[in-house]
Amino acid sequence: MLAKKMETALVHQVYEEMYSFYLYLAMAEYGVGEGMPGLHHWMRNQALEELSHAIKFMNYIAEKGGKAELKALQSPPKSWKSAKSVFEEALKHEQHITDCINKLVDLAISLKDHSTVNFLNWFVAEQVEEEASAQGVIDMIKLTGNAPGGMFMVDRELAARPAAPHPLMPATTV
Ligand code: FEO
Repeated sequence: MLAKKMETALVHQVYEEMYSFYLYLAMAEYGVGEGMPGLHHWMRNQALEELSHAIKFMNYIAEKGGKAELKALQSPPKSWKSAKSVFEEALKHEQHITDCINKLVDLAISLKDHSTVNFLNWFVAEQVEEEASAQGVIDMIKLTGNAPGGMFMVDRELAARPAAPHPLMPATTV
């Protein structure tokens, strides 16, 4: 059983992960508009990962006897000035998510809720990867400078991202 305060905070994180899903879907559309199929593919797969994070939180809340009541999502931005600015915003967003996860861990520790600390540790590790992958793309874009065909090569790299697993699996056992 979760303390009410912990349950409310975990349910809010479902919103944060779902907004991440929505934000990355919007970013994927930048790739459509700019003729960057690799960016579109990378962001679509990132969005699916975020959906799987939201489901992971929902499954945990259910396993602990709680219920995730879903909130309406805020509209994500519609346009960016460059592919670099798309990934800079993605990095800033991941830093915000890291902050959210850290605050959840602080709360779980203060409530002596060891199972939630254990559950959140997966996300603590995941956030290191999430920030590093956005930063990696920014670094790759910077390396191209303004070389002719540079963004074409970056887009090909982005297209090589492996497909994300089905976000609704595994389903909750309740
Ligand atoms: Fe769910 Fe990208 O953090």
